[in-house]
Amino acid sequence: MKKIIAANWKMSGSKDFIKKYFNYFEKNIKNTSRNNIIIFPSYPHLAEVNSYKKINKSFELGAQHCHHNNEVAQTSCVSAAMLNDIGCNFVLVGHSEWRSLNNEDNLSKILESVINNNMTPIFCIGENYSQKENSKTQSVIDNQLQNILDNKILFENCKIIIAYEPVWAIGTGTIPDINIIEFIHSYIKSKLAQKLSSAQEKDIIVLYGGSVSTKNIKEIFSAKSVDGVLIGGASLNVEEFTKICNEKL
Ligand code: 13P
Repeated sequence: MKKIIAANWKMSGSKDFIKKYFNYFEKNIKNTSRNNIIIFPSYPHLAEVNSYKKINKSFELGAQHCHHNNEVAQTSCVSAAMLNDIGCNFVLVGHSEWRSLNNEDNLSKILESVINNNMTPIFCIGENYSQKENSKTQSVIDNQLQNILDNKILFENCKIIIAYEPVWAIGTGTIPDINIIEFIHSYIKSKLAQKLSSAQEKDIIVLYGGSVSTKNIKEIFSAKSVDGVLIGGASLNVEEFTKICNEKL
């Protein structure tokens, strides 16, 4: 199976940055069929990035969040229907940076809306530092996965990608021990496979996120339950990101 290499640009980027980024990326990306590449710019840059996607087709486009309802008048929000309309195929749901500022009650509805609008959600889960220190990682993950299991539409549709992103590993340069990554990914797969009506373990895609770089990418992919990575900081450096995309993983 091809690996997923996803770039979460968070609140970074500009028109000039995008021009230079794709100028380099398109010249240097080697075998575009080797890994599946997804780029998540911020909302104002989706259309600009999509114009490069249309020309070269070397990556897919994703958004970092959406509202759960297409029909309401909601100043400042963006619906799943709008994202699909402008060419997105993926949406990040429940990133820890989003969770830290927002009410998490609607996550299950957001996942549902993304699926209903013909895109694939990448559902971000993971424990914070104190939860890790108190051996709460599995119970935190159990609670977060409940958003999928409690929703009938999600329960019957396994087209959700999970991103395991320990909050304490994001932006810190530190990653969990590789055996822990392997264990947690396997735990997520077996838990969802047991509970979901339609999915088998092999259908459940789990990405790792948190301080991924050229330095640790080989080690991360040495864990066989890692199906891809969600990269923040290192994805803003186009040379580093292209190098990761060109890796034979
Ligand atoms: P960093 O790669 O900068 O740690 O960010 C990870 C992340 O939050 C991806 O969604």
